[in-house]
Amino acid sequence: MSAVVHPIEARGLVKRYDHITAVDHVDLTVEAGTVYGYLGPNGAGKTTSLRMLLGLIRPDEGSARLFGRDPIEEGAAALEGVAGFVEAPRFYPYLSARRNLELMATLDGGDAGDRIDDALATVDLTEREDDKVKGYSHGMRQRLGIAAALLRDPRLLLLDEPTTGLDPAGMRDMRQLVRRLAADGITVMLSSHLMTEVEELCDRLAIVRSGRVIYEGGLTELLRSTGQRYRLRTTDDRRAAEVLAHQGGVGEVEQGEDGLSFAADEGIVAELSIALVESGVGLTALVPAAASLEDLFFELTEDAAEPSPSGSGSVGRTRPEARSSGGAAALGEQVRS
Ligand SMILES: Nc1ncnc2c1ncn2[C@@H]1O[C@H](COP(=O)(O)OP(=O)(O)OP(=O)(O)O)[C@@H](O)[C@H]1O
Ligand SMILES: [Mg+2]
Repeated sequence: MSAVVHPIEARGLVKRYDHITAVDHVDLTVEAGTVYGYLGPNGAGKTTSLRMLLGLIRPDEGSARLFGRDPIEEGAAALEGVAGFVEAPRFYPYLSARRNLELMATLDGGDAGDRIDDALATVDLTEREDDKVKGYSHGMRQRLGIAAALLRDPRLLLLDEPTTGLDPAGMRDMRQLVRRLAADGITVMLSSHLMTEVEELCDRLAIVRSGRVIYEGGLTELLRSTGQRYRLRTTDDRRAAEVLAHQGGVGEVEQGEDGLSFAADEGIVAELSIALVESGVGLTALVPAAASLEDLFFELTEDAAEPSPSGSGSVGRTRPEARSSGGAAALGEQVRS
């Protein structure tokens, strides 16, 4: 047993709603200083998992510890240094952003009030701080949610799909913000339904499908375990195809309009490049196929996807508006203790 206390340690988390097992024996360890992605399609159990981690709902089985403390057993005390929100942050719409933060700071106590200016500046809302939140765009509300979280001076931030519903510029800003917070030493766990986002932001990830974690680890290991695809362009594709056929560890060779593609591990690719050159084949391009991670995600999560009209999986490509939400849950919950 190691004595290291991790920001998040969950063991055997289960949550059932009637006949649905929303979260099915989930184990998670999030180490300090990482940005951890919790990736899955709609309905996979991301929000439910985060709710349990934040102590907002009680697991049917298993337990979660944040910095070694159980939010269900210890309540607010376990959430010291922890902040975040699920689905969407909640504010008083008829009050300004600053007034909302002031009220939250009063609830949080301590020196939270001293952090308001910094928090607003960090999320780039200083200029709009006196505007009523009801006039805020979705992206501004998400950023204000992060500002509210920052009042707690968190060491751990849990964010439920922070970029969903944002336009490309809003997504970019939010991702930059997450990166900046991580660079400041905050451990971040974020859920997402976009593999590309997790790839861009996260050091480690768990892929969840129908409540179960079907992969947990690093991105590189994920690719390695499944075999990455590469695209190859050469001065002599016919000769290159022969070399590929004789190279051990290379599979699924395809000839396309703009060259060849194949599946192989990174180590094999290095050997292959030498073999090609030794056979007198010049390389004009040898690049990982960019779509592979996204394809992989589809493959891994496909069965859990709701069928789209075209019959193909819609995981990760669903428009934000199509996401289900309703009742109180749609208002979101912010962790305030
Ligand atoms: N309060 C609830 N009552 C009944 N069923 C629920 C409740 N909360 C979640 N579920 C069910 O649990 C499953 C997981 O839902 P959850 O909201 O955790 O998924 P998600 O991964 O966050 O999805 P999304 O990407 O759409 O936000 C779904 O089948 C959902 O209908
Ligand atoms: Mg959700």
